[in-house]
Amino acid sequence: MGMSAEAHGAGGAAALDQPYDGVSRTFHWLVVALVLMQITLALVLPSLLPKSAEDSITAWHLGTGSTILLVMLLRLGWRLAHPMPPAPSDLSAGLRILARTTHWAFYLVLIVLPLLGWMAANAYGATPRLLGLIPLPRLVAPDQAFGEAIGVVHKTFATVLLGLIVMHVSGALYHAFVKRDGVIRRMIPG
Ligand code: HEM
Ligand code: HEM
Repeated sequence: MGMSAEAHGAGGAAALDQPYDGVSRTFHWLVVALVLMQITLALVLPSLLPKSAEDSITAWHLGTGSTILLVMLLRLGWRLAHPMPPAPSDLSAGLRILARTTHWAFYLVLIVLPLLGWMAANAYGATPRLLGLIPLPRLVAPDQAFGEAIGVVHKTFATVLLGLIVMHVSGALYHAFVKRDGVIRRMIPG
């Protein structure tokens, strides 16, 4: 199947029948679920739940966040070995570059952001646990002021991530409802 899709050459309607491979699609939707959970933990729950729940929300934030780091490193390795299917040939060069830049920015931000969080957590004297279980080594010594500084950068990166998500989902909806091409189907499982 991959062979016949390639035989149609790069771009064009036929090439759009070629989906992302199953592993890439699984990574994509797993990371979407984890990121939605992480944003809920960081922004929604602290304002809904009582102050007494703060410690467990934080533990979850560190556990989910470090899981995102692990999954993104595995995903990056997979991605470097498996190129994405070709873009629609009628997509303007500008939009193509915008989409690719957004994709690679996701990889960058979803690796740097958890690393900054890990450093901030250490500086605050906390130990993040991978999957909520395995304690991670200490990257920086406890230092409240440094923690607050890194925390600001961490929150800035989280804002950049929200911006990327808005751009990316707008792009996905544009393909689904305006262009009505096959781009969405490439990432939908099954
Ligand atoms: C995709 C992953 C992540 C996202 C989207 C994210 C998002 C956020 C956001 C929005 C805040 C601000 C909450 C607030 O004070 O209003 C925050 C704070 C924080 N996050 Fe994350 N985070 C991620 C990963 C991590 C990881 C992996 C760790 C640690 C291992 C971590 C540790 C922290 C810490 C310690 C703070 C408090 C910073 C401070 O107030 O100075 N985060 N995070
Ligand atoms: C947290 C939210 C999301 C993140 C971090 C994210 C991240 C990514 C990344 C990194 C890629 C590029 C994959 C690669 O080439 O390695 C991608 C592709 C894609 N995403 Fe998302 N995504 C998110 C949400 C969504 C949502 C909600 C939709 C659907 C409405 C969606 C639809 C797609 C589609 C259709 C592609 C393939 C684009 C193409 O073929 O050029 N994504 N996403």
